[in-house]
Amino acid sequence: MNDQLIEKAIQMRGKAMAPYSKYKVGSAVLTESGKIFGGCNVESSSYGLTCCAERIALYNAISNGYTKFTALAVATKNGGNPCGACRQVIWDLCGEISIYITDISGNVTNKKSSELLPNAFDKGSL
Ligand code: THU
Repeated sequence: MNDQLIEKAIQMRGKAMAPYSKYKVGSAVLTESGKIFGGCNVESSSYGLTCCAERIALYNAISNGYTKFTALAVATKNGGNPCGACRQVIWDLCGEISIYITDISGNVTNKKSSELLPNAFDKGSL
């Protein structure tokens, strides 16, 4: 299942709309029930309106009625890490899950969300 998740993230990278940065990102999330949803980054000429692949994958799953997740994969040309904003959203929507970070050759590192966002601010802080 994790291989399929990673493969989907690599595949989704092909759908990225990144005319400004040229940095294509694909992502995929695995639901508790075993379904996989993908996302890619979509950039705007007003740069701040860009949305990252990870968030689009999560919002895709949620808008299809799935709200519980067990893993997320993200694919870039160089195995780049999720940005800070995505780390917060991943923590808020997924809690502690496995995050597979891969480059396009399939070199994968596996991290936990709490490793990416230690001492997180979340609903428990409110
Ligand atoms: N990007 C993502 O899609 N996910 C990340 O976690 C890091 C950054 C995108 C946003 C922008 O389209 C491009 O990569 C360069 O920052």
